[in-house]
Amino acid sequence: MAKIIDGKAIAATIRQEVADDTARFKAETGITPGLAVVIVGEDPGSQLYVSNKEKACAEVGFYSEKHELSVDTTEEDLLTLVEKLNGDEKIHGVLVQLPLPSHIDEDKIIDTIHPMKDVDGFHPVSIGNLLIGKPGFVPCTPHGIIVLLERSGVDITGKNAVVVGRSNIVGKPVSVLLLQENATVTICHSRTADLAAETRRADILVVAIGKPRMIKADMVSDGVVVIDVGTNRVDGKWAGDVDFDEVEKKASAITPVPGGVGPMTIAMLMQNTLKSAQMKVKK
Ligand code: GUN
Repeated sequence: MAKIIDGKAIAATIRQEVADDTARFKAETGITPGLAVVIVGEDPGSQLYVSNKEKACAEVGFYSEKHELSVDTTEEDLLTLVEKLNGDEKIHGVLVQLPLPSHIDEDKIIDTIHPMKDVDGFHPVSIGNLLIGKPGFVPCTPHGIIVLLERSGVDITGKNAVVVGRSNIVGKPVSVLLLQENATVTICHSRTADLAAETRRADILVVAIGKPRMIKADMVSDGVVVIDVGTNRVDGKWAGDVDFDEVEKKASAITPVPGGVGPMTIAMLMQNTLKSAQMKVKK
């Protein structure tokens, strides 16, 4: 039986640390860290994430703004809002919830967020800094995965880390972070010739493909540490990308869905927003 990696508890500890650091920062500088979240349209998943972000901001003592735009908002109007937030002194982090409606060019919006306010870590400047190991904003979900491993006592150095999925938001950045932590990293995707052969070589397996329960027990080795990034709705319930009931019997540790990676994303967003406010003071 695997140890269950309790992301909810680890994330709560991190939010408490951010709350303590924020109280100290406010007392020293008189500045309240501010986060602006922009959501376009009414996707229920996105709305849930955004309301969780607002709750977390209140809990750690941030100022927060929510901008809810209708699904037919033009690209130009969204660009104008992002530019206004870039110039707003109260705001240290600008987050535009993805995905955006198809008539809006996501890359163009991300490119417009000021790199000093890019708390999502999606701007090309942030991604470039990550790749060459320079300080900057690290994308929240990948960073949350590394912190989950560290705080669960998993040593990454020298391990075979296998990442399934190559998205810009999770697969690619988490691969770079695992490499920085001295893992030997394999990135698998929809065109990988023999996925099971690759995943069986994993000491640490990170799965972010958006296919419910796709990783089965015969695809992993005994003692593997499994990080499941999937959040799929199946029959009104959440299901990960890993078949938890099967894989849990072979793994040494595994994240549940929900309550694994998800809460970490928001905790890391709080960290990034505080870091942004702190960096502005140091400049
Ligand atoms: N959609 C799913 N995850 C994320 C995230 O971390 N940030 C943003 N902006 N949108 C998302």
